[in-house]
Amino acid sequence: MNYLVTGGAGYIGSHTVKALIERGDDVTILDNFSTGHRWATQGQRIIEVDLRDLHLLRSALSGETFDGVFHFAAKSLVAESNQRPLFYYQNNVAGTANLLEVAIENNWMHFVFSSSAAVYGTPETALIAEDHSTLPINVYGKTKLAMEGMMQDVCAAQEFSAISLRYFNAAGAALDCSLGESHEPETHLIPNALKAASGSGQPLTIFGYDYPTPDGTCIRDYIHVEDLANAHLKAMDYVRNHQGFEVFNLGNGQGFSVKDVFSACERAAGKSIPHVLGDRRKGDPTSLVSDATKARKILAWEPLHTKLEGIVESAWAWETK
Ligand code: UFG
Repeated sequence: MNYLVTGGAGYIGSHTVKALIERGDDVTILDNFSTGHRWATQGQRIIEVDLRDLHLLRSALSGETFDGVFHFAAKSLVAESNQRPLFYYQNNVAGTANLLEVAIENNWMHFVFSSSAAVYGTPETALIAEDHSTLPINVYGKTKLAMEGMMQDVCAAQEFSAISLRYFNAAGAALDCSLGESHEPETHLIPNALKAASGSGQPLTIFGYDYPTPDGTCIRDYIHVEDLANAHLKAMDYVRNHQGFEVFNLGNGQGFSVKDVFSACERAAGKSIPHVLGDRRKGDPTSLVSDATKARKILAWEPLHTKLEGIVESAWAWETK
């Protein structure tokens, strides 16, 4: 099969490209390289264009044929999204409208879309399933929900099918160490802890230690990036055979506190990690843990790297490489 991968130079996009190549699919990466990396494109064909420019997008993609589109390209920093809402609406929402328009013009009718647990907002239940209310508390989450809504409406209006995958906390690196997480600025817990361990970053700040959890720090559901990548392949196989719109959570269904993760990072690095206890970070929910039963049942998806230790060790191997 021949697929278009927008944002294929980014963290989760590049791991999905790797999985597609490994199963023998052809890949074209569309990226504006605003946050993605050329080293992450793995020798694949690249179309460098910004989704916000409909005319350039249309001409860059004219005459192409794809069996489906994986849509990762988006801005994804929560704090930045609240400071620059229009930038997020233009990049994420308007960019997706342009992509859908060009896709439909070219008859590429199967989409797998990168969404986020940020669409749920403040959890009302310990485990979050897909039917949990969607009341995002930041602009990033609102844009992801709007992008989902757009795809759902297109699916209702014509013969188009889309799956939205709502990730919990993507983490870790390719087991062969060829790819991994590299954001600038880095805001995520595991890379920040490991950068503090390797000496290439600041001491880790633990954001808040007075949350109503057993050790006072926030709880998250960490999912290995290769498990996420495999879910995309399964989702594409599904969406090519099922008309309509579906959402699936992707997570391990196990919660780990910031202190649990910090300790796992110290074990992986084999040393103490410099850190300070800081104030809560604005907008962090106390706990976010998935119920991903639907993806396991319907997509027959089974995460392989469910142990926090293994996820963190792969990230440490990448960090030290
Ligand atoms: N944390 C720290 N120190 C850091 C970084 C993070 O203590 O330097 C804490 C955070 O406060 C949070 C936990 O570690 O409690 C996890 O934080 P991350 O930034 O790694 O991940 P988030 O849960 O904030 O973000 C993830 C996704 C976002 C998504 C969000 C909500 O990366 O894209 O979940 O679904 F928007």
